Amino acid sequence: MDHRDAVDLISNAPLAHGAPQRWAELGCGTGTFTRALADLLPPGSSITAVDRDASALDQMPEQHGRTRITKHLGDFTTGPLPVRDLDGILLANALHFVRDQSDFIRRVSESLKSTGTFLLVEYDTDTPNPWVPHPLSFVALSELFKASGFRTVKRLFDWPSAFGRARLYSAWAERDGVG
Ligand SMILES: C[S@@+](CC[C@H](N)C(=O)[O-])C[C@H]1O[C@@H](n2cnc3c(N)ncnc32)[C@H](O)[C@@H]1O
Repeated sequence: MDHRDAVDLISNAPLAHGAPQRWAELGCGTGTFTRALADLLPPGSSITAVDRDASALDQMPEQHGRTRITKHLGDFTTGPLPVRDLDGILLANALHFVRDQSDFIRRVSESLKSTGTFLLVEYDTDTPNPWVPHPLSFVALSELFKASGFRTVKRLFDWPSAFGRARLYSAWAERDGVG
């Protein structure tokens, strides 16, 4: 997926509201969605980009547009996140690697502000495969986040899978929305 496609997939997210924001992306890889998010955040925002793959992080810039990117090498499933008071957490093609997703969401939510949100990109399937070991269809993801205290879970956009299997979708989860 190229940069323009990644931006299109998450551009419906209600991100560009005034003040600079603090985000983390967990499982950022080489930064396809880090850059897309950076394009959509208000100027002066920051993203902490976390991955356990040092060679992927090496390809990540430290600035994209007017968004600063801080790289963090580590496992996002263990220990506290390296940042707190976040406006949002992005998980793009990453939550499906987590076995106990409910416990994980509870734990990483502690790094969010009370108004903090999740932005998610996943395959719309419940059938696991070696590359997507713990898949989350939109229905499963909605149930998971609602059970974790996120009252509003919205499907933002769909994108055909590059492999002709399940579609990719983006979603937004927030605690106190009215949708
Ligand atoms: C399929 S790639 C997605 C990369 C990027 N978010 C994207 O959508 O283009 C998954 C990434 O998550 C990282 N990852 C998976 N489990 C992780 C963990 N427990 N801690 C840190 N990084 C992890 C992998 O190293 C890989 O870079």
